[in-house]
Amino acid sequence: MRGYDRQVPKNPTILVFDSGLGGLTVLREIVRARPDADNVYVADDAFFPYGQHSEAALADRVVPLIGELIATHAPDLAVIACNTASTLVLSHLRAAYGVPFVGTVPAIKPACERSKTRHVSVLGTKGTVQREYTRALIRDFAHDCEVTLVGSPRLAALTEAALDGESVPDAEIAAEIAPCFIDGEARTDAVVLACTHYPLLLDRLVRLAPWPVEWIDPAPAIARRVSALLGPARADAPPAHDPRLIFTSGRRHPAAEALVHGFASEIAA
Ligand code: DGL
Repeated sequence: MRGYDRQVPKNPTILVFDSGLGGLTVLREIVRARPDADNVYVADDAFFPYGQHSEAALADRVVPLIGELIATHAPDLAVIACNTASTLVLSHLRAAYGVPFVGTVPAIKPACERSKTRHVSVLGTKGTVQREYTRALIRDFAHDCEVTLVGSPRLAALTEAALDGESVPDAEIAAEIAPCFIDGEARTDAVVLACTHYPLLLDRLVRLAPWPVEWIDPAPAIARRVSALLGPARADAPPAHDPRLIFTSGRRHPAAEALVHGFASEIAA
């Protein structure tokens, strides 16, 4: 009887990382795409918002932190569900650690492929729109498209406030998105959601937009990439656990717990 050395089926473990709650928009798609995976979601809320930190401060924070998280949780794959961090440290992370990484970077290529007016805006944090990585995406993929970069100083924090149950006036959100809407001979017809927080406000963004545009959220494409890297799910895999939520501040976040429980039960239903 050689049953003792038979491999116990194990679900893949995915580490999903953001500065706060934004990465939950990516986690939601990962849970849909890979119901067999055990997810550990880490929000570095003790250092939120990432968009306000210098590149040096952010790299010094994120690279060792991800190393600690890899050592603790031994993920099969790590998703940096944050444009502000990915556009800065993805190459450092790949050089430092052996785990496969999937990043979240502004979806400029698909937006420019879809735009009919050839006017696209990229709505991200101030950090993301300043990055050389973002400028290179425009050089490589915008072609004849006019790309307007909009660094929003407050939208990520407003999203967190809204999820915390605070009342966030429409006017404050409208002011953050207004620079995306360029009206001239041709109007903007696509806006890249280049911060993972923003899809959490999508209903309000749609309602407050001066005219209808396509809002480009890369989360489903990220989840497809994750799934491809993991390979096919095992038929004999045990049921996955509900995603685990960790906040570097040590706080509990009931709104996030409810949201995540909602994704998991939507899949189970
Ligand atoms: N969710 C993050 C992103 O995708 C950033 C928010 C922040 O911490 O400023 O860029």
